[in-house]
Amino acid sequence: MSSILVIDDDASIAETLDLYLTEEGYKVRTALTGTDGLNQYVQEPSDVVILDIRLPDIDGFTVLEDLKEENENVKVIMITAFHDMETTINAMKSGAFDYIHKPVNVDELDLAIKKALKSLEMEKKIDGLLMEPSRSFRVGDIIGTGNEMREIFKTIGTVSQSRTTVLIQGESGTGKELIAKVIHNNTSPDEPFIAVNCSAIVETLLESELFGHEKGSFTGAVARKLGKFELARFGSVFLDEISEMSVNLQAKLLRVLQEMEFDRVGGKEKVKVNARIMAATNKDLKTLVKEGKFRDDLYYRLNIVSITLPPLRLRRQDIPSLIDYLLAKINLDLHKKIIGISDEMMEVFMNYNWPGNVRELENLLVRACVVAKGQVLGVNDFPELGKEEAAKAPEDASADLFKPSQPGKFLTLDEVEERYIRKVIKETDKNKGEICDILGVSRPTLERKLEKYGITFERE
Ligand SMILES: Nc1ncnc2c1ncn2[C@@H]1O[C@H](COP(=O)(O)OP(=O)(O)OP(=O)(O)O)[C@@H](O)[C@H]1O
Ligand SMILES: [Mg+2]
Repeated sequence: MSSILVIDDDASIAETLDLYLTEEGYKVRTALTGTDGLNQYVQEPSDVVILDIRLPDIDGFTVLEDLKEENENVKVIMITAFHDMETTINAMKSGAFDYIHKPVNVDELDLAIKKALKSLEMEKKIDGLLMEPSRSFRVGDIIGTGNEMREIFKTIGTVSQSRTTVLIQGESGTGKELIAKVIHNNTSPDEPFIAVNCSAIVETLLESELFGHEKGSFTGAVARKLGKFELARFGSVFLDEISEMSVNLQAKLLRVLQEMEFDRVGGKEKVKVNARIMAATNKDLKTLVKEGKFRDDLYYRLNIVSITLPPLRLRRQDIPSLIDYLLAKINLDLHKKIIGISDEMMEVFMNYNWPGNVRELENLLVRACVVAKGQVLGVNDFPELGKEEAAKAPEDASADLFKPSQPGKFLTLDEVEERYIRKVIKETDKNKGEICDILGVSRPTLERKLEKYGITFERE
């Protein structure tokens, strides 16, 4: 029988989990403080620990550390009321196995426990998986809430402990390069981050950019030149728009990924690659593979870990915080004191389709800040996105309702639920009570779901 230790200071949560998990066939123990939890674990280790971050005596991260010290392979599922990126990445980097939000959703918890037990079983089989010790924690700024972004933060935390290749996909302007930089900063902040755009340069130049060349290897090669893979040392090489790489270079890149070494153009000795390789694309690589435009073996090599960024129109709840964040950045750059955008403009922004995603939002704000007279940006400051745009903007949300963020992917039931609730709120002017009637749920259920999906809405 697999055993679970629940450490949570909220007695009612501890008790509920105890009942539920015992029912599910686990051997369960509970502790209401970090100290008690640690003592119980030392006396008798359990397979899985469910750990609250905020505890009365020691904080959850310290408990996690101590548990890890006791048993490096302990499977800890953290639970918390915080939703932000930093806590999530931090939890995953400190070696938590998974991370779940309050109020705890039992299906999510079930899944996490099953995954943890499965991984324990695998580890017993493959003795001694090599992992680098986790480094000090550094993040850039990624604004994001919602399930998809949360999963992305988790992945960033996990990949930052290794040097695996990462493929980052998403529409233009969704933050692919930003994610690559955050992964880099979390892995090897003191080493170079080198970005190469695979579409910008002609093939032969790209080859010598990547691999370098020896003096005299071709006309114009007047001196030895180091390639990006060498210059990046133990840092990262970010191959942007990888879909545009020629078939010939794809073959060479594949060899580099397989052997982690290469020849300089015209060179004799092998050069070792120490850098982590990340690639990004705004095309669907899988489709290109099917069409024969991208090598499938290279695709599988790159796709060891893949991150798919959702387009902004599918995570509109992030628009207000993105605006705050971007305005703060722009104020600093332009020495301005813009404090926000008008309610009317916010309405337009919330309904607009954002084909250029966060980059488009950023560009619009920069332009508006440059010309703005007042401290609050209004409709007049966004001539491109004026009133007529607002009028036609409310897109047919039902068309988008089941549309996955990436072709070929499917939505989870939670995602469908979230979108449907948003649609009803957006398309009616009803208050919360009436929305409960439309959705056929009680008021507390609606409140819980609004909180879960980070939906704010003020019509009482
Ligand atoms: N979640 C986010 N939080 C804060 N800023 C973001 C976020 N996503 C993107 N940005 C900002 O938006 C801009 C565009 O992001 P980035 O260049 O990473 O996108 P991209 O996916 O590489 O775009 P492209 O495909 O056009 O190259 C950057 O200035 C970035 O800092
Ligand atoms: Mg980019």
